[in-house]
Amino acid sequence: MKRIVILTGAGVSAESGLGTFRDKDGLWTKYDLAEVATPEGFAQNPGLVHDFYNARRANALDAGPNAAHHALVRLEREAQAEVLVVTQNVDDLHERAGTTRLIHMHGCLTGALCASCGHRWPAPRAMSPTDLCPSCGAATTRPDIVWFGEMPYQMDAIYEAVAGADLFVSIGTSGEVYPAAGLVEEARMAGAETLEINLEPTNRPGLFDEVIQGPASEAVPGWVSAYLT
Ligand code: OAD
Repeated sequence: MKRIVILTGAGVSAESGLGTFRDKDGLWTKYDLAEVATPEGFAQNPGLVHDFYNARRANALDAGPNAAHHALVRLEREAQAEVLVVTQNVDDLHERAGTTRLIHMHGCLTGALCASCGHRWPAPRAMSPTDLCPSCGAATTRPDIVWFGEMPYQMDAIYEAVAGADLFVSIGTSGEVYPAAGLVEEARMAGAETLEINLEPTNRPGLFDEVIQGPASEAVPGWVSAYLT
């Protein structure tokens, strides 16, 4: 059985109305990454960080999966292949579309995490610095999001899947953030074919055997249809 690993980034959810990070008008042009997406920023101003992720959570709850998310579900269900989606996205649109083999390497807005005891529970729509951990009672609750300077989740499982992949597909990610950005090289070293689907060229010459340029909502369903025929 062939094995396909799909890496997704903010571009896959852009047409669901969720902002990307580094595009013109992206989130990192409006917010200081160091203030809202690092453990140090959280220690300094937890209210600001919660406000930022509460807004992201509200946007994600109000959004729905688009044709790209649905096409990846079709791929998982219909391909004669084992498909794993590794997403950098903290929205839950892949699972709401129906993807079942999914790793959220940067965490998810639907989760809460106690910074003191490590307990995890479903996040309420809005979190605040005074929320208490339901397990240990400490007022140190945070979104279950991987911040800069922290280790992404399930890296062992991701590296294992990439090492065994026949095809690696990168969709809607700028390739600026490691370790996610390095997965394509791992896949190439393991002998996988590599494909990039993105609205714009990401200027990573030599890393992808094939590049499809276009909006994810059109390019991903188009590629999946072609793959399945
Ligand atoms: P970026 O904002 O860095 O990149 C988004 C990519 O999506 C760009 O390459 C765009 O060209 C592409 N894009 C935009 N709209 C698209 C569309 N409609 N169809 C296809 N492609 C489109 O977002 P990521 O690469 O996901 O991490 O960023 C990686 C990580 O950086 C995020 O997970 C987040 C961020 O800081 C953390 O917060 C830890």
